[in-house]
Amino acid sequence: MNVQWYPGHMTKAKRQMQEDIKLIDIIIELVDARVPLSSRNPDIDDLGKNKSRLILLNKADLADERQNEAWKHYFQNRGFYVVQVDSRKGTGMKQIQNTIQEACREKIERDRKRGIKNRPIRAMVAGIPNVGKSTFINTFAGRACAKTGNKPGVTKGKQWIRLNKNVELLDTPGILWPKFEDQMVGIRLAYIGSIKDELLNMEELCLGLIAYIREHYEHTLTDRYGVEEKGEDIEVLAAIARERGCLKKGEELDYEKTARLIFDDFRTGKLGRITLEWAPKEGHLDEDHQ
Ligand code: G4P
Repeated sequence: MNVQWYPGHMTKAKRQMQEDIKLIDIIIELVDARVPLSSRNPDIDDLGKNKSRLILLNKADLADERQNEAWKHYFQNRGFYVVQVDSRKGTGMKQIQNTIQEACREKIERDRKRGIKNRPIRAMVAGIPNVGKSTFINTFAGRACAKTGNKPGVTKGKQWIRLNKNVELLDTPGILWPKFEDQMVGIRLAYIGSIKDELLNMEELCLGLIAYIREHYEHTLTDRYGVEEKGEDIEVLAAIARERGCLKKGEELDYEKTARLIFDDFRTGKLGRITLEWAPKEGHLDEDHQ
């Protein structure tokens, strides 16, 4: 299956981000912790090359804890600050405050030497659609936030959210777009629900998810649906359909309906914490650092 998706206004969004990046000190980039590479566009490394960089492994509550740690190291080894976050619950917010200060230490020091005191750090949130940017901004800014309004001349037309005396956040996130060079990227984004289900063959997609879960998270399907993880993936899908009574008229199994049920369970975390993309082994990098 070849998943393709071209969000409109991509060029416009990129131009907007280029402009916004000029105004800020640090990029807070959200990725989905279940698919940390597929949910990021490395173009941002180029766009933000002179800025401090913080990656948030968002939706960490839905991802495998061991993989969250592995991905954290992966990005840290590449020069990013990293925090694991659950934006819905607010886990990780305090740590982000501290990490921003840490990541912008050089800027703060530069300001201090020039005699500039208490100039807030300016931050921008960025990420591909559906990674949780709005949820994060709402939780991070919380009720304490106050919109600072336009700053004539400097940031015309921009709204900043004053988080505290140290940090200001641009209130509109930078929208990135997925990079579909490898077709698995599209498929993983479809698994997590970032591509409209109507565009997809849910049954075929679900067989892929079942295969992945059987391989990496053995017993998960047995625990949830009481089926045996034996035979072809289609047999497991059929067993789940029978177990859950997903039938069409005439007692025929309704695979489409079963697939939706499984995706719903997966996306809401009812199948447990599952990461869809394994962090590459970092042996050679560790050796470099020894
Ligand atoms: P975006 O601005 O980047 O496009 O993403 P948005 O905040 O709209 O979030 C997309 C979906 O992801 C929302 O779910 C949101 O609740 C969920 N979400 C965001 N952060 C987290 C997180 O850390 N953990 C979990 N488990 N979910 C998160 P939705 O179902 O589309 O909307 P809603 O019903 O929750 O409002």
